[in-house]
Amino acid sequence: MKAYICEKYGPPEVLQLNEINKPVPGENDVLIKVHATTVNAADCNTRGLTYIPTGMNTLAKLMLGWSKPKVSILGSVLAGEVVEVGSKVGSFKPGDRVYGTGPKMGGYAEYAAWPEEGALTKIPDKISFEQAAVVPYGALTALYFLSELANVKSGQSILINGASGGVGSYAVQLACHFGAEVTGVCSTKNLEFVRELGAHHVIDYKDQDPAENGNLYDAIFDVVVGKTSYKRFKKSLKPEGYYLAVAGGLKEMVSMIGTSFGKGKKVKFGGGSSSEKLEYLEFLGTLLEKGELKPYIDRQFSFEEMVEAHRYTESGSRRGSVAITIP
Ligand SMILES: NC(=O)c1ccc[n+]([C@@H]2O[C@H](COP(=O)([O-])OP(=O)(O)OC[C@H]3O[C@@H](n4cnc5c(N)ncnc54)[C@H](OP(=O)(O)O)[C@@H]3O)[C@@H](O)[C@H]2O)c1
Repeated sequence: MKAYICEKYGPPEVLQLNEINKPVPGENDVLIKVHATTVNAADCNTRGLTYIPTGMNTLAKLMLGWSKPKVSILGSVLAGEVVEVGSKVGSFKPGDRVYGTGPKMGGYAEYAAWPEEGALTKIPDKISFEQAAVVPYGALTALYFLSELANVKSGQSILINGASGGVGSYAVQLACHFGAEVTGVCSTKNLEFVRELGAHHVIDYKDQDPAENGNLYDAIFDVVVGKTSYKRFKKSLKPEGYYLAVAGGLKEMVSMIGTSFGKGKKVKFGGGSSSEKLEYLEFLGTLLEKGELKPYIDRQFSFEEMVEAHRYTESGSRRGSVAITIP
């Protein structure tokens, strides 16, 4: 089968399309013919340490691989069709359309053997493989921070800093779904898009500093890499508000510990595999089915255009996410 192999850290060109053996599923695995994948921060970090926040490089390399990526086939998300199941698999059968995400990666290939257990589930009927592939990463992250860490609910006011991107576009939709009053921050070209996602108010960061508008929020969801700062946004939080440092680094990790005792404003940091829960993916599936959550594909690339898709994603000019079709 064809697969992109990544044998060293570097620019998108380190991804090499090779012919390798099709994986053999173990007794608890499902073999999936991959039809679509995406490019997200996890893929870019594993390939090129692109979005590692300040102060986190050593920790990131310990986790991702010291001198080269530990996993050779990237693709943290996949959408495809089950073609074979291991002897102990009970929840899937050949022919099922599935999508999911997992730390094992492997979605940048024609076939992947993934464990049955984990964030893997059936794709809702009306959703295409490409649409399914752009949901898990951003939407699971947004759901984890908004729901599990900040318990966002009806009547609260939420600021989403970085509202038009791969994570923020779901954070806006989910915060609206939970009944919050949402303010989305992005650049001029994306203001209309963020309004379409459901934001009640929008701020153009090129015109106005969202930390200096005098408003107070119950939660601030900050997904702007390199600009995340609790110090900057602290004054914009209500007395028991949450600063959700989605793209946070060492400073926010320290602030999280410092604010974890007693009452008052809290910093929350983390995510990653903690957000990859089956129950969350199933919840998102019900929203997709009812049309209450929409996947946004900025551009669709062919499998052969993987390097370009990585380059485009890292250019920072996309709305929502990119999808990659695997024939
Ligand atoms: N903790 C976790 O589990 C987790 C999970 C996923 C992602 N992340 C992290 O989240 C980060 C971004 O993810 P993403 O895929 O959503 O990125 P993205 O798609 O590139 O989105 C970036 C967003 O930030 C906006 N933006 C850029 N500069 C800004 C500024 N100065 N002020 C306010 N907004 C600004 C962009 O708006 P315009 O395009 O309009 O400029 C866009 O909406 C990465 O660092 C990634 O590592 C963390």
